[in-house]
Amino acid sequence: MQNTIETAAGLFEKMQEKLSRVVPEFELKYKAELAYKINQLKKKRNAVILGHNYMEPALYHSIPDFTGDSLELCRKAATTDAEIIVFCGVRFMAETAKILNPSKTVLIPSPRAGCSLAESITAADVRELKARFPGVPVVTYVNTYADVKAESDICCTSGNAAKVVESLGSGPVIFLPDEFLARNVAKETGRHIIFPSRTPHREGEELDYQMVGWRGRCEVHEKFNVEDIAAVRRQFPDVVVLAHPECSPEVVAASDFSGSTAAMIAWVEKTKAPRYLLLTECSMGDNIAAANPRKEMLRLCSVRCPHMNEITLEQTLASLEQTRYVVDVPEEIRVRAFRAVQRMIEIG
Ligand code: 13P
Ligand code: SF4
Repeated sequence: MQNTIETAAGLFEKMQEKLSRVVPEFELKYKAELAYKINQLKKKRNAVILGHNYMEPALYHSIPDFTGDSLELCRKAATTDAEIIVFCGVRFMAETAKILNPSKTVLIPSPRAGCSLAESITAADVRELKARFPGVPVVTYVNTYADVKAESDICCTSGNAAKVVESLGSGPVIFLPDEFLARNVAKETGRHIIFPSRTPHREGEELDYQMVGWRGRCEVHEKFNVEDIAAVRRQFPDVVVLAHPECSPEVVAASDFSGSTAAMIAWVEKTKAPRYLLLTECSMGDNIAAANPRKEMLRLCSVRCPHMNEITLEQTLASLEQTRYVVDVPEEIRVRAFRAVQRMIEIG
């Protein structure tokens, strides 16, 4: 999505074309001016901006050179020539970019863009699990910090989780830290999953499992439930329901499609239904609505990820002006995390 518009007025016009139904005009004008300054500075500083699909519409449609889900952005981060990578997403994503590009400056516009899944597990937790299940490979969702990735054999995203698990053969795997994604992958790959308690199992006790999970949750996706879906279907029988795999297995089963943020966007684009219900972060609904003006996006409520919401045009401009906030990963952790991320990228 390389931005080639040379004037602030031209950028405003372009944004208005896409976003007039989503963002009020006075706000759009102000945001177009900010976006213009960011794009100028980006060129001057030889920076690339990566924007996750959850970025707010005005930012999403103006400054990123590339937009995508976490897997696509990981791949872009691995191949960029720019000297500076500005990650408009959350911290674990920016850390992944740094893991792949140790010699580049990686910036995140807000130091407060965390993630409830990444906060749910520590490297010590992973070491403890490895000691309890010796020899069992560890698959770690990218929504984790670098030190957790460093303890893992391979990473995965919501776009390739089942493929990554299957790449390890039919033996058991430890899958961390998202409980719902783990349950959804277990169902898809026909595996029995257990969630170990803090108390170790008794000596000689046989545990029947093919997957070992962890009880991390996405604070956004855990809010959706099957009653909401049923209510929307009663009102709009022709609605197509899409759920991110961080939703519960019950919600995924009651939906018509489940996939990563990029897979959901592609699904809306290739199907012809008049209306869709997206069970994911609400800015993505706005971004899809802007790109698909003939399709109606139903909103259950405003479920905005508070961490993604930290990333604004103002903060991104300040980030480029002041080279803040620099994302660093200690080299000893980075090299081990790199192996797990790289192994995932090779699988696809
Ligand atoms: P995707 O990899 O599907 O973009 O998901 C990232 C995320 O944080 C979803 O909540
Ligand atoms: Fe983390 Fe959930 Fe926000 Fe995604 S939506 S960044 S998983 S808290």
